[in-house]
Amino acid sequence: MTGKNILVGITGGIAAYKVAILVRLLVRNNNNVKVVMTPMAKHFITPLTLATLSKNPILVDFYNPENGDWNSHVDMGLWADAYVIAPATANTIAKMANGIADNLLLTTYLSAKCPVFFAPSMDLDMFKHQATQKNIQTLVERGNFVIDATSGELASGLEGKGRMAEPEIIYNSLCEYFKSDKKLSGKKVLITAGPTYEHIDPVRFIGNHSSGKMGFAIAEEFAKQGADVFLVSGPVKMQTENKKISKFDVVSAQEMYEKCIELFKTVDIAVFAAAVADYRPKSKAQNKIKKQNDDLKIELEKTPDIALNIGKIKKSSQITVGFALETDNEMENAKLKLKNKNLDLIILNSLNDKGAGFNTDTNKISIIRKDLSVLNFEIKTKTEVAKDIVEEIVRNLLSD
Ligand code: C5P
Repeated sequence: MTGKNILVGITGGIAAYKVAILVRLLVRNNNNVKVVMTPMAKHFITPLTLATLSKNPILVDFYNPENGDWNSHVDMGLWADAYVIAPATANTIAKMANGIADNLLLTTYLSAKCPVFFAPSMDLDMFKHQATQKNIQTLVERGNFVIDATSGELASGLEGKGRMAEPEIIYNSLCEYFKSDKKLSGKKVLITAGPTYEHIDPVRFIGNHSSGKMGFAIAEEFAKQGADVFLVSGPVKMQTENKKISKFDVVSAQEMYEKCIELFKTVDIAVFAAAVADYRPKSKAQNKIKKQNDDLKIELEKTPDIALNIGKIKKSSQITVGFALETDNEMENAKLKLKNKNLDLIILNSLNDKGAGFNTDTNKISIIRKDLSVLNFEIKTKTEVAKDIVEEIVRNLLSD
């Protein structure tokens, strides 16, 4: 691992002295290191040692008392490719799990956009305590990476689990992460996202509430893992961030279908996250339809089903993934779609679950595999859900 921006967060635990070795290892391998400490951590290792090793000033307070400069936790969170909190005391882990932000290390945690690693370090009874275990589990479920504590002699003189992982282990965990970061290099992925609009006349259309958030989050996650992404998107307000995403804007189901058929030949994976209109007006009026005295009838015809048609032409080396947004007989309907559309996985989100489905920032999904086994997930942000989905796709890809 080299050239990464690593933010090291040190809390007040006896293992803090070992973090000097971690900082040294990171710097020696040409990574940029900044260190943020809790006020208590300064009692365990001096800021001077860490400033010298990291070649950067150490951050402890919300502002620099000498010149009054504001230490921006938001900027640090954006700067970092990874944030490593080591040692992570029971107190800091509890605060992280509960959104408490009473020092710079914690405000940085709450605003960090990068992956967060934490290495618990405490006495064995504190480590074993249900509260601590629950807090660690909460953090892991939210997508943070725990670098597990080890067993052995503790500062208290007791023996048991609670020792911070050795600096070399922490360093290797980071290396492992950044290696796997690019595990989809060279893979091409097609993703559909957003709604489609089916024109009735020049000013009206049939559409739906899809925001595109889920499809865009999946596109970003694939790109982050090194894949080249073709994102075919219906009309949405979203922008892409990663340069590895090529976005193709379409409006109607027909346009989305044609673009997908063209791109599918070249891809390894396709994810159909768009809420494609199932019906469109049989004909589009050239002029705005005038209000009439009687009811107006619009004849509708079926749109092409993209996932279904691609399912017919896909090669055995290609993986396809669909979504099912259901209100009733959810599991049964999703399994039927998996089969009918010849998908490898289907993601079920139920409109009955609060915080799932359209136009929300969160989603609660179940992934159904081809063998009909089911993975159920907690409610999470769409970014975290995208990670779970991509991870499962990668697992399928690697099992071939
Ligand atoms: O049949 P249903 O619309 O519920 O299936 C949902 C899945 O099929 C989603 O993955 C959706 O993106 C895809 N689909 C499609 N083209 C359509 C309709 C749905 O690709 N015309």
